[in-house]
Amino acid sequence: MANNKIKYSIPSYEITDISTFKNRRNIIKAAFASGLLGSGIRLHADDNKPKWSGLSKSHLSIDTPNTPKEIIENYTNYYEFSFNKNDSTVLSQRLTVDPWTIEISGEVEKPGKFNLEDLLRQNTLEERIYRFRCVEAWSMVVPWVGFSLGDLLKKVQPLSTAQFVKFTSIYQPEIMPNQKSNSMLQWPYEEALRIDEAMHPLTLLAVGMYGDTLPKQNGAPLRLIVPWKYGFKNIKAIVKIELLKRAPNTSWNLFAPDEYGFYANVNPDLPHPRWSQNTERLLGGGFFTPRRKTELFNGYAEHVAYLYKDMDLRHFF
Ligand code: MTE
Repeated sequence: MANNKIKYSIPSYEITDISTFKNRRNIIKAAFASGLLGSGIRLHADDNKPKWSGLSKSHLSIDTPNTPKEIIENYTNYYEFSFNKNDSTVLSQRLTVDPWTIEISGEVEKPGKFNLEDLLRQNTLEERIYRFRCVEAWSMVVPWVGFSLGDLLKKVQPLSTAQFVKFTSIYQPEIMPNQKSNSMLQWPYEEALRIDEAMHPLTLLAVGMYGDTLPKQNGAPLRLIVPWKYGFKNIKAIVKIELLKRAPNTSWNLFAPDEYGFYANVNPDLPHPRWSQNTERLLGGGFFTPRRKTELFNGYAEHVAYLYKDMDLRHFF
C-alpha cells in the first residue's frame, strides 16, 4: 500500500475551485429548498452540531469535491424500507440505532457481542473520502467517518480456517415494510467478502459521513464500505459479522446470480445485463455534465488489483 494520497486522473470538468464549489453547493441547497430540483427530494433539516469535528483525514482519501450531503442522504437504496430512492429518508427514521450491538462469531479466537459505543472508543475514527459506484451506473464522492474493518477483526483474532466474512443487516419486519411483504430479496440482507478483502486497509466500517453520525437512510449506525466494489456490497445497519470457512450465500447473488456476482468489483469492461458499466452519472452534476468514465476497481486498481491476480476479470462479475 503506497503511503501517499490516492491519485486519480480527474477530468478538468470535475475539478472545481473551492469558492465555485461552495457557491454551487449553496445554489443546489437553494434549489432544493425552493423545490426546483423537485422530484420528491427533501432537505434533511438537522441543524445539530456534527458529532465529530477535526477528525484526521486519512491518506486513503481521494482529492476531489464531495457530493453534496443533501443528495447523498436523499437518493438511497434501502430495500427493506422501499424501492424508491427518496422514501427511505422518512421511513427509516423509525429504526432505533442507539444502543446497538454487533455480534462477531465463527472462526475467531475471541467471539463476542460488542456495544457500538465501546467499539467507537476502542478504534481510531478517521475521515475517508471515497468514490462510491452503484451498479445502476451512478456514483458519488462521500466523506465517510469510520474505522478499518481489519483492525476490528484483528482484535477478535481470526483463526487460520477463516476464509470469508459474512455480514448481516438488522431484521425488523415490524418497521421494515418490505421484509414483511416483499420476498424479492431474502431477508435479512446479507453480504460477504473474502478474508483478504475484509482485511484490506481500504475496507471501512462507516459510522458517519460529513463529520456526523450516519443518516439512518444511509445505513446507521454502522455499515460496510468497500470502495472498489459496486454499491450493493456495502451493507447497511450491520448486526452480525461471521468468519466462515466457506463462501456464504449473499442476498443479491441468490436473487440473480448472473447480475450480482459475489465479487462485484467495479469493471467498465464487464457489462451488467441491464446497465453498461462503461460510464457513470456523478450525482450532483447538472443535466449537461458529461458522464464520467468508469475506472477499473473504481480507481483503486493500484491498491487492490493484486487481490485478483489469478482471476480472469472478464468473467468475474
Ligand atoms: N444494505 C441494506 N441493508 N439494504 C439495502 O437495500 N442497498 C445496497 C447497499 N446496502 C442496501 C444495503 C445498495 S443496492 C446500494 S447501491 C447501497 O447500499 C446504497 O447506499 P446509499 O443508499 O447510502 O447510497
